Amino acid sequence: MCGIVAAVAERNIVPLLIDGLRRLEYRGYDSAGIAFIDEANQLQRIRSAGKVQALADRIDSERPGHLGLAHTRWATHGGPTEHNAHPHTASERLALVHNGIIENEQAIRKQLIEHGATFTSETDTEAIVHLIDHLLAQGQSMLDCLVEVQQQLQGSYAIAVLDQQHPDTIWGLRKGSPLVVGVGVGEHFLASDAAALVPLTQQMMYLQEGDIVAIRRDQAALYDQQGKPIERTIQRSNLDPESSERGHYRHFMLKEIHEQPAVISATLDGCLNGTRILPSLPAELLSQVRAIHILACGTSYHAGLTAKYWIESLAGIPVSVEVASEFRNRRPAVPEHTLMLAISQSGETADTLAALELASELNYLATIGLCNVPESALTRACDHALMTRAGLEVGVASTKAFTTQLTVLLLFTAALAQAQDKPKSRIAEVLDALGQVAQQTREVLALEDQIEALAYRLADKQHALFLGRGAEYPIALEGALKLKEVSYIHAEGYAAGELKHGPLALVDESLPVVVTASSNELLKKLESNLREVQARGGQLIVFADRAVTLDSNDDMHVMHLPLNHSIASPIVQVVPLQLLAYHVGVIRGTDVDQPRNLAKSVTVE
Ligand code: F6R
Repeated sequence: MCGIVAAVAERNIVPLLIDGLRRLEYRGYDSAGIAFIDEANQLQRIRSAGKVQALADRIDSERPGHLGLAHTRWATHGGPTEHNAHPHTASERLALVHNGIIENEQAIRKQLIEHGATFTSETDTEAIVHLIDHLLAQGQSMLDCLVEVQQQLQGSYAIAVLDQQHPDTIWGLRKGSPLVVGVGVGEHFLASDAAALVPLTQQMMYLQEGDIVAIRRDQAALYDQQGKPIERTIQRSNLDPESSERGHYRHFMLKEIHEQPAVISATLDGCLNGTRILPSLPAELLSQVRAIHILACGTSYHAGLTAKYWIESLAGIPVSVEVASEFRNRRPAVPEHTLMLAISQSGETADTLAALELASELNYLATIGLCNVPESALTRACDHALMTRAGLEVGVASTKAFTTQLTVLLLFTAALAQAQDKPKSRIAEVLDALGQVAQQTREVLALEDQIEALAYRLADKQHALFLGRGAEYPIALEGALKLKEVSYIHAEGYAAGELKHGPLALVDESLPVVVTASSNELLKKLESNLREVQARGGQLIVFADRAVTLDSNDDMHVMHLPLNHSIASPIVQVVPLQLLAYHVGVIRGTDVDQPRNLAKSVTVE
């Protein structure tokens, strides 16, 4: 969703801001804008609907600036037009960018109009800049204004604002949406996402709820929500500056699919300390757990569903998995000694954060967040954090974040089983299976050409069905989600056993049915489901492990994967489905990295 980047430096900041916006493009947006103070101390504002390149094309490279802010907007209040694009201005001296949503915008707008403000957009953001303008006109300092703004605004927001009458400072404020300060040598930056800043500096200060910051060339001064000076520690970002580069890959999604063996290994390394599994989780906590509630959205929800199969079978603990958008709006019953596990790759998803907020009012034993972004709202809100090491995921369709989530969730299962005194041999089996996942994934990736050839079978279809059984049922759901996201083909994931209860009615010779088959105790049942599809003329594509004895025929294409069945198989089984979706999207000519209507981090309800 929206992105913020701001800079104060001796060098010309205009190209830095445009480059920062490009690094935020992955979040999804529909317009962009920049405001800066030029060398004649004039406030310049340039905005454009569409891509950052359209904005860059309008900028006069002969006009440098040393202080400025920029924004990518994902429309919520008002359409994706130039006049709604940020920055918004007031009194020809203030320019402001904003992420998040102001819930009481209408009331504030009405009051400010009564005081003489003129609004030129439909955005909620414009109310903030006019509110600051109104408070400044009463003689308040910018710091006092931002303290007051927090009292008046309802909703979630991160803002950056500059005042042409004080052309050495940019102010920032974080309340519900992330904001990070980049600390350089004689220059400072602000951004909604460290990814925008990593080529400029690796030294980051993550703002906390209510923090206000004033960045100048030589310092970043921080204040709490009452305006009292505070300090925040500087942390070194471990984001690879190249993670926001595509390298030789045609798309980020493809690059990220291919990064999976490396990031799965890195995640495993980060979660094991000698014989200790997930050392950051106290064993005494895990031994008390009697039930688990998993909350997440989208792909992260599918990771949670897979974990339910693992945890119940290995650790014997009942697990319920629910989409956070439902959980947050009901009154859930929480049995004693229930652990809440919230999964979010970004750590910013509004529904998951709201579910966590609700959890704080309920009787949970503890909350654990599984996340890919250090210092995110999710990791801060939970009692304990488990981290994946997927690195920055730029493609909107989640791939490496998912397989690294599964890796940690299987380790979490082993840690729980250990704390609950389950047989050591089962735990050793899990660790052994996980140890082979990276290599097996590498071998599946080597089959890409064959998977690309299969993609042509789906590319002209309107619908597709994905089937799986057991822990591969969530993998079928994920395969269907990937296909619909990046190819816009309508796809449904089903537990294969549900076929007869409805979806079989859809099956005819025009329907591709994609299946993952493992040589486990459910294989015979799955084979019956395949026969049901074949009997109705459906076109089967089956991704099978090496011990499955199915052969291709006229209406069934079987691709054998270099994979021995194990508890970790779902992690590898999803990889061909990711590649299939990617290639179908490419053949159909969609924007696979930024599918229409979607954003990377869904920071609004
Ligand atoms: C799908 C996808 C989304 C996210 C969902 C939750 O490819 O990426 O479904 O999984 O929006 O996002 P996080 O994990 O950041 O909470």
